[in-house]
Amino acid sequence: MTIQWFPGHMAKARREVSEKMKFVDIVFELVDARLPRSSRNPMLDQIVQQKPRLILLNKADLADPNQTARWMDWFKEQGYEALSLNAKNDKSVKQIVPAAKKVLADKLARDKERGIKPRAIRAMVLGIPNVGKSTLLNHLAGKKIASTGNKPGVTKGQQWLRFGSQLELLDTPGILWPKFEDPEVGKRLALTGAIKDDLLHLDDLAIDELGFLRRFYPEQLKERYKLTDEEMFQELPELLMLIAHKRGFKDDYERASEMLIIELRQGRLGRYTLDRFEEYTE
Ligand code: G4P
Repeated sequence: MTIQWFPGHMAKARREVSEKMKFVDIVFELVDARLPRSSRNPMLDQIVQQKPRLILLNKADLADPNQTARWMDWFKEQGYEALSLNAKNDKSVKQIVPAAKKVLADKLARDKERGIKPRAIRAMVLGIPNVGKSTLLNHLAGKKIASTGNKPGVTKGQQWLRFGSQLELLDTPGILWPKFEDPEVGKRLALTGAIKDDLLHLDDLAIDELGFLRRFYPEQLKERYKLTDEEMFQELPELLMLIAHKRGFKDDYERASEMLIIELRQGRLGRYTLDRFEEYTE
């Protein structure tokens, strides 16, 4: 799902999420493992405050595993429990409850000492559009959930989805907005499909994509479009032109650009991480 955001929506969504915070023990912050920084909401710390948090790096099946491992370590160094996840995979989703228990270990031990009967952990899923919030709810529930609305502005009291005796989730995930002001973040979000790309020129986006792949994943690019070493090192617009020709699109660069972007999003160009760990930490 892609959402067009307006300031009114943002303020309202933020208010709703803040109001719901008091009902939960823990927040599941869902991020796109291909964008561990760009798919996070910059205001999230302020909204979540001291509430325990589990960071779920979702779509890990599409991300570069080396980068994911480094990002996971980094989150842990920042004091957060982090889990790499594939929300479409039941086995992967089953790791969430044990990870949440780990985050809440102190509280659970205190409750036990005080003789408080254990109850299900109450959680809320939070994240920007398209990170996989509804997919996660559906897979936890084992069925398609008719949510009260996966859209901001729909509040119908607190409805809980129960997952066995161990976990209860607010049935409406908290939708936050990405940080739009930074054009680089915007481009990366568009490349993964998190925001609408009609705001950006497809060919510019495709050229950026080619530059990125050539730098970090040259073999994947070569393999997909059957490029020779010599062809790989042409100027990027020429490379786009060449791929268009190879795919039989003649001089239709718009179509070739669209194809490149779709193939990247669908993982047909292999696994990749756009937010490079080194870029942020070195
Ligand atoms: P949202 O509620 O946060 O907005 O996200 P949503 O669950 O709608 O997921 C957005 C897209 O991401 C969906 O694809 C979904 O299938 C896909 N997705 C979610 N989690 C994962 C994951 O862990 N791995 C992979 N590979 N994909 C994931 P779509 O093409 O928009 O829809 P559909 O083809 O599934 O119908």
